[in-house]
Amino acid sequence: MLLVTGASGHLGSLIHAGLTERGLAPLAGSRTPGRFGDAGRPVDFDDPAGPDLAGVRVLVLVSAGCGEDDVVLARHERVVAAAERHGVRHVVYTSLVGAGDHLAFALAHRWTERRLRESRLDWTILRNGLYAELFGQLAAPVGGAVTAPFGAGALAAVARHDLADAAVRVAADPAAHRGRTYELTGPVALTAAGLAARLGVPYRPAPLGERRATLAGPGLLPFQPAMLLSIYSATAAGFLAGTHGDLARLLARAPRDPMPVALAAAGASS
Ligand SMILES: NC(=O)c1ccc[n+]([C@@H]2O[C@H](COP(=O)([O-])OP(=O)(O)OC[C@H]3O[C@@H](n4cnc5c(N)ncnc54)[C@H](OP(=O)(O)O)[C@@H]3O)[C@@H](O)[C@H]2O)c1
Repeated sequence: MLLVTGASGHLGSLIHAGLTERGLAPLAGSRTPGRFGDAGRPVDFDDPAGPDLAGVRVLVLVSAGCGEDDVVLARHERVVAAAERHGVRHVVYTSLVGAGDHLAFALAHRWTERRLRESRLDWTILRNGLYAELFGQLAAPVGGAVTAPFGAGALAAVARHDLADAAVRVAADPAAHRGRTYELTGPVALTAAGLAARLGVPYRPAPLGERRATLAGPGLLPFQPAMLLSIYSATAAGFLAGTHGDLARLLARAPRDPMPVALAAAGASS
């Protein structure tokens, strides 16, 4: 049996749907399993007892990274320990692209990768690049201009749908990907200036300090400003521009162009 966690989230729902389309009848692990009918299984990584993974052979572990490091580490420990306890054979983990080591949320991903490598489980690590959807949201025009502090940096943003398709291909044939770590970026790197040009608005990047002051206001959780600032900063410093061929090889086709995906997200957010 296959089980996908985070099945009602953006990525997990696409993975679950893709595996369902292949006739693999995946279970949907979720904090709200009722919406999936008979396929739903309660999976809440914050439950100290850990999820019941009895009968699961392949687990697609979609990271639950929205939280402080100690929270995320505890979540991922519970689910990996449950996988060991219940005899799961193979874990497919959605991690973070290697070039993302400077991002504030990298530590929890690297910790989880290490936890899996040191376990007795079979594993595949999908190091996902930053979503084109996220880039578009962050670079959405405000007051008629793109002001996100990406500097002149480029980001090899990737369409979330492609990441889901890659996870589906791996989960459908996990033995072929045992012990492999894939770097999954978009095929080209996007810039905020390029996105602004396509939107027909000027690009006037704010200084990081100004953006930090804005983010410090109400509305965000305490860990979120650092998370967002690190995305701006690492992109501006050129750490996230590199593209890799792993995604095209895994998909056996060209990845989607991330620019239209980012433009749609920017349009929806402005
Ligand atoms: N590469 C990127 O650009 C990027 C951007 C944002 C986030 N991420 C990471 O990638 C993951 C998936 O992205 P996404 O776009 O699908 O995010 P999303 O839409 O926010 O979905 C995340 C899902 O994680 C599950 N989850 C959260 N807390 C959980 C908990 N305590 N126990 C069990 N499940 C929990 C939830 O699924 P249920 O509601 O079904 O329980 C939630 O819907 C995120 O969680 C985050 O770690 C990556």
